[in-house]
Amino acid sequence: MTLVYDPTDPDIRRNPHELFARLRETEPVHWSPKLSGWVVTNYELATDVLVTNSIYSADRFVPFQKHLSEERRATAAEIMRWFKHWMVFRDPPDHTRLRRHMANILNVPVFDAKSEAITSVVNELLDRIPVGQDVDFFQAFSLWMPGIIVADLLGVERDKLLEVKQWSDDMMTFIGSSRGVPDKYERASRGANAMGNHFLELIAKRRADPRDDAVSMLIASEVDGERLTDDELVGCMMMVLNGGHETTANLLNNSMLALVSHPEVMKDLRDNPGKMTTAVDEFLRYDSPVLSLGRLVTQDTELGEKTLKAGDRVFVMLVGANRDPEVFRNPNDLNITRMPNPHMAFGKGAHFCLGTPLARLEGQIALNAILERFQRIELCEPVESIPWLNSLVTRGPTRLPLRLQ
Ligand code: HEM
Repeated sequence: MTLVYDPTDPDIRRNPHELFARLRETEPVHWSPKLSGWVVTNYELATDVLVTNSIYSADRFVPFQKHLSEERRATAAEIMRWFKHWMVFRDPPDHTRLRRHMANILNVPVFDAKSEAITSVVNELLDRIPVGQDVDFFQAFSLWMPGIIVADLLGVERDKLLEVKQWSDDMMTFIGSSRGVPDKYERASRGANAMGNHFLELIAKRRADPRDDAVSMLIASEVDGERLTDDELVGCMMMVLNGGHETTANLLNNSMLALVSHPEVMKDLRDNPGKMTTAVDEFLRYDSPVLSLGRLVTQDTELGEKTLKAGDRVFVMLVGANRDPEVFRNPNDLNITRMPNPHMAFGKGAHFCLGTPLARLEGQIALNAILERFQRIELCEPVESIPWLNSLVTRGPTRLPLRLQ
C-alpha cells in the first residue's frame, strides 16, 4: 500500500502520529507530491539533515522565487527585503554573524529577569477567565501571554499588540501556509511592510533615546566591530516576534489538551508542581508546537536509501522524530518524568532555538499557575471537533474550548 502524506487533510493535521509511525517504519524519507518535497520522520535522519548545513541549506527562499510569475516575484521581493535577514533562513557565515548579535539579547540572564513579569502577565490574564463558563482558552490566554512577553522584550507597546499580531499573521501566510490560501502574497507583503515600518520607527526612537531594553541592546550590539543595519535590525525583531509567539502559544494549547486527556497526569502535576520542569519538555515532545523544518538540498545526496537532487525540498518532521521508538521508549505515552528526553522540538544544530530557556520558563510558570488556580479543567467539545492549524510550521488547535473552575 502506498502511504501519502497530505498536510491539507484535517484528520492528518489533528493526528499525524499514526501516519508518521507507518512512514518511519516503511519509508522514513518519503516523497510527498502534495508538498513537492521529501518528508523525513526518523530521528537519526532528521538529525543528519539539521546538522549538515553544507548539504541542507536553511536558505529556502531564493530558489523558490525563481518559480514565481513576474508579478508575484515583485510582491515577494518586497517581503524578502525583511525575510532575507531572518537568521533562521541564513546559512553560515552570515547566520553565525547574525546569531552572535542575537545572543546578546536572547540569553539566560535576560530571560531570567523576565520571570516576575511572566508571573504577573499570567495572573492578570487568568484573573479575567470567567470561572465555570465555556471559554476559548487560546483567545483568552495562550495567544496573549507569550505575545505580551515577546512584545515587551522588543519594546512594542501593549495597545499595538492586536495590530502587530494581525501583521504577523498576514506575513506568516507567506511561509507557514500550505497551498490554497488565496492572495497570500499580497496579504504577506501588506503585513510585512506595516510591521517593517513600525519597527523602523521604533529603532529611530531608541537610537535617539536608548533605553534598557532589547531593541537598544541590539542597536548597540557589535560583532567584529560591525553593527547591524536598520533592515537587519527589523528582520531580527520580526523573527523574534514570530518565533517567540505562536510557537509558545501552541506549547500552552498542546499541553492543556494533553492534560485534559490525561486527568491522572493533571492530578499528579497539581500535587507535585516540582515535576513541571520535566513535564514541559515532555509536552514539547508529545505534541510538538513546530510541525516541520524546511531545508533545501544544495548537492545530490543520499538519505535513508533515497537519492535527493540539488534543489529538492526537505521537510524534517519534528513531530515524527519526537515519537521515534528508537530514541524514546513507549513514544506514544505521555511520561512527565521522562529522562533523558532528547526531543528536537527546538530543532538541532546551528539553528537550535535561541529562545529555548524563555519558552520553557513561560510554559512552567503558566501551567503551574493554571493548575494551582483551577481544580477542574474540562474540554467543552469532543476533541475530534476541534480544527488544527493549516500550517507546515506551527502545530496546534485553532481554538481550545475549555471550562475552568
Ligand atoms: C515553545 C516555544 C518554541 C518552540 C517550539 C521553538 C522552536 C524553534 C525551532 C524548531 C527552531 C529552529 C528553526 C530551524 O532550524 O529552522 C527555532 C529557532 C529560533 N527560535 Fe524558537 N521556539 C520557541 C520559542 C522561541 C522564543 C520564545 C524565542 C525568542 C523570544 C525564539 C527564538 C528563536 C530564534 C531567534 C530562532 C532562530 C535560531 C537560528 O536560526 O539560529 N523561539 N525555534
